[in-house]
Amino acid sequence: MPLLSDWLLRHLVVMCLLLHSLVLVTFCFHDAATGCSDGCYCSESGSGGKTVRCSNLQLTEIPQDIPNDTRHVYLDFNLFTAVPANAFADLPYLVELDLSHNEISRLEPGAFRGLGSTLQFLDISSNKLVNFDPEAFEGLRARANLTNNPWHCDCNLQMAMPRVDLEPASLTGIVCQTSEPEQIGVQGLAFLLAPDIDLCVVMKRTTDVAMLVVMFGWFSMVISYLVYYVRANTEDARRHLEYLKSLPGIQGKSEESSTISTVV
Ligand SMILES: *[C@@H]1O[C@H](CO)[C@@H](O)[C@H](O)[C@H]1NC(C)=O
Ligand SMILES: *[C@@H]1O[C@H](CO)[C@@H](O)[C@H](O)[C@H]1NC(C)=O
Repeated sequence: MPLLSDWLLRHLVVMCLLLHSLVLVTFCFHDAATGCSDGCYCSESGSGGKTVRCSNLQLTEIPQDIPNDTRHVYLDFNLFTAVPANAFADLPYLVELDLSHNEISRLEPGAFRGLGSTLQFLDISSNKLVNFDPEAFEGLRARANLTNNPWHCDCNLQMAMPRVDLEPASLTGIVCQTSEPEQIGVQGLAFLLAPDIDLCVVMKRTTDVAMLVVMFGWFSMVISYLVYYVRANTEDARRHLEYLKSLPGIQGKSEESSTISTVV
């Protein structure tokens, strides 16, 4: 009897070891199948959220093989210059996206399409963004870090602000490096925190001037037409009067003629 139990125990241990390694192998294969982008480091947190770290890899293009159940993606300290449309559209669970410390100067319209309902943190600080295009952020309600970019503040930016869904505090990260008009004194300020500044005022002023010029044009046309009309009529009236005068025996009309000439 003790011999049998001993035998069973030994086999159980072996079986367990076998099973364990089998599980490990499938896990590895599973990992290889879902893949972790080349050179990136993937990890899985307890709550089931996958994290993909591709920081500092000299990448020039956004990897397209990030596993679709990823929740956190770190792509900071690379060499991206643009984010194309739908770059992350296959990541329906993405909560955090770090694109900071790149060379990004262009966010195409729809760059973050598909992330509207899940993404909570977007870091695109320390890039080369100049013009703010609200279409790039369409539908995005995340908190974004927009600091440390060479933002150009102009009327377009001012008009874009009401169309942005990002968490409002995010917009304080738009610190103007250049501005149009230049002398308005917004450089170095967070655009949103300078409420007295109206970057569209110059445009309004030019449209006002244009309106004035057009109105003046119309006015002078009307005046010259009136002058012409009056002159032509004077001529007619005079000819008519001369005709009347030339008629013999109508003296009563001379009084009328004098009133007409005074009116003219
Ligand atoms: C994620 O990718 C796997 C394998 O490519 C696929 O079977 C699955 O449906 C995808 N899930 C979503 C939510 O797209
Ligand atoms: C935003 O990014 C800058 C520079 O990359 C960093 O110093 C700052 O702490 C970030 N701000 C927040 C709120 O994360």
